[in-house]
Amino acid sequence: MTILVTGGAGYIGSHTCIELVKAGYDIVVVDNFVNSCMEAVNRIRRLCGVEFPFEEIDLTDYSATDGLFDKYKIDAVIHFAGLKAVGESVTMPIEYYRNNLNSTLSLLSAMKKHDVKNFIFSSSATVYGAEAPVPYNEATPVSRITSSPYGNTKLMIEYILKDTAKAISGFNAVLLRYFNPVGAHESGEIGEDPTGIPNNLMPYVARVAVGKLDMVHIFGNDYDTPDGTCLRDYIHVVDLAKGHVAALQKIKENCGVFVCNLGTGKGTSVLEMVKAFSKSCGKDLPYEFTARRAGDLPAFWADPSFAEKELGWKAEKGIQEMCDDVWRWQSKNPDGYRS
Ligand code: NAD
Ligand code: UD1
Repeated sequence: MTILVTGGAGYIGSHTCIELVKAGYDIVVVDNFVNSCMEAVNRIRRLCGVEFPFEEIDLTDYSATDGLFDKYKIDAVIHFAGLKAVGESVTMPIEYYRNNLNSTLSLLSAMKKHDVKNFIFSSSATVYGAEAPVPYNEATPVSRITSSPYGNTKLMIEYILKDTAKAISGFNAVLLRYFNPVGAHESGEIGEDPTGIPNNLMPYVARVAVGKLDMVHIFGNDYDTPDGTCLRDYIHVVDLAKGHVAALQKIKENCGVFVCNLGTGKGTSVLEMVKAFSKSCGKDLPYEFTARRAGDLPAFWADPSFAEKELGWKAEKGIQEMCDDVWRWQSKNPDGYRS
């Protein structure tokens, strides 16, 4: 079975390519490097031990996307490609809607033309919105609107896929709602490589550990949580990648629309995360408490029981392993793929 992996040079896509090859799938990888680089592809190939095809294509370009399906016999698409910075999406909504929606529509149009009916989509826990009770489970209705244009693209694409599955007989759409992916491949060869100053906690902490940033700023310590800092459901990226392999099994059973959380079911506080990373890197990382970040929710985590029941998949790696693996990646590659 051949899987088209879009955004395969990116953080989650790169780790998933490795798990797909390990599981015996053939892959074709596509990326336009808007948030990644060729070095990531070289390293994935090295780790896989396979020279899989790679195409540098912008998926918003319909004819280039269609050409992929002429060139390769694709059985399923795993669609990671997209812009993902929440804050940036607030200042650049047009670019976010254009890139994320048009790339998905290009793919679906080309798939329809070539009679490809299997699609796995990278959605996000953000679709549950601010009002949903925790833990989030798949029966919880999605929010009418999310907290950002980025989140809204996820919500809109979920609707597009559900409508497509209604209209095209035999179309399978798996919507995977990720919680907070962190961690890196155990080799330390691939990992998360944000450009500029990271917005998300784990890459920020990693840059402090490697001496590129001075200290961690913890956004708020007056939340109604055990230590006053926010709780999130951090999931190791390799566990997440394996969730996609499990989802392909579901596709083989002709699942139709299948919505599933990928999380661990455990909440970890910001402070606990900083302490765990300090242990991994062998020094106490400096931190200070600052004001809350606008839009942050105090605490959310997944109910992962549906994934376990339906996919036979469960996250296995804990917080310490996530921090150890990020430290290995960051210390071996202090400047990411440019190191
Ligand atoms: P990433 O930015 O590392 O990877 C996305 C890749 O898509 C990048 O390599 C980028 O160059 C590529 N890309 C973007 N637009 C493209 C286009 N038009 N044509 C071709 N390639 C394009 O992000 P990631 O963290 O690996 O996330 C993968 C997916 O998972 C995204 O859709 C993201 O929204 C979603 N997601 C991520 C998180 C997270 O915390 N990382 C959480 C929930 C959902
Ligand atoms: C972010 C996205 C969310 C996406 C999720 C998936 C935002 C606002 N939201 O969630 O849409 O689905 O990633 O991974 O970006 N923190 C600090 N100091 C920092 C950075 C973060 O204290 O320098 C705190 C935050 O306040 C938060 C926690 O760490 O409480 C996690 O933050 P982050 O890694 O940005 O993820 P989320 O905000 O949960």
